Amino acid sequence: MTKHFINLKDFDPQTLKNILAQAHILKAEKFHPPQIFRGLTLAMMFDKLSTRTRMSFDVAMKQLGGHTIVMSKGDMQLGGAESIESTAQVMSRYVDAIMTRMSDHDKMEELAEHATIPIINGMTDKSHPCQIMADIMTIEEKLGGIEGKKIAWFGDDNNVSKTYEDAAPLFGFDFVMATPFNNITAEDAARDADVLVTDTWVSLGQDGKEIEKFWPYQVNDDLMAKAKDTAIFMHCLPIHEWEEVTETVAKSPQSVIYDEAENRLHAQKAILAYCLEESGVSV
Ligand code: CP
Ligand code: NVA
Repeated sequence: MTKHFINLKDFDPQTLKNILAQAHILKAEKFHPPQIFRGLTLAMMFDKLSTRTRMSFDVAMKQLGGHTIVMSKGDMQLGGAESIESTAQVMSRYVDAIMTRMSDHDKMEELAEHATIPIINGMTDKSHPCQIMADIMTIEEKLGGIEGKKIAWFGDDNNVSKTYEDAAPLFGFDFVMATPFNNITAEDAARDADVLVTDTWVSLGQDGKEIEKFWPYQVNDDLMAKAKDTAIFMHCLPIHEWEEVTETVAKSPQSVIYDEAENRLHAQKAILAYCLEESGVSV
């Protein structure tokens, strides 16, 4: 049966933990990667900008012996007259999996409904599951595990925070949000936190958004000081310099943002391997 990777909550916790265990193994093998994707092709479709998602999926496939095709919205008939159903059917005949960044989550679900190959969610307006898998992998590396940890989120309530909310009951961590949309202060959220995490206040497609209300939620040195001494700072990147986080925090020894970015590569190798194997493509 075709196995997509679209919503974390579609999975049982053990399956997600197994995928992350495989990600740690693949990271350990990064200088002699097993050629498990030899002869396989991943298509990537984007209707928004991307640096990390595009590069890390491309490198993930190629390091494990596979190939990639990258399509932007303007390159495809999908941006014109062709339907999602027709696009899904045709692409399923050419490639072995599709990673897509589609703004509209429902359209990604529609693509998955008609595809006979795995669809992997490279971020929608509602979620960013590959990012959260890489984040959890990073927390496991830095703090020895995620269960029981306090993860504090600051700023906007967006696709990334919503995916953390999905992940919290699956992985057994405490997720506390301080945003203008609830009544938890930044100080309360930061107190004794193991991880402080934020994201841009202006997500892709939100140009011109009013940001004044977010300033009380900026991650700065005072906020970091309220967390545990061992606390780490995370951000999916890109940072909007220096709004949601100060330069001192982003460049401090507590900041793990580049390990987090690297772990996109390893987590996604494991996600691809899982989806391909479960879908009957031998890897
Ligand atoms: N974090 C992330 O998804 O980055 P990109 O938008 O550059 O892919
Ligand atoms: N919330 C951000 C994440 C970017 C990786 C956005 O949607 O633009």
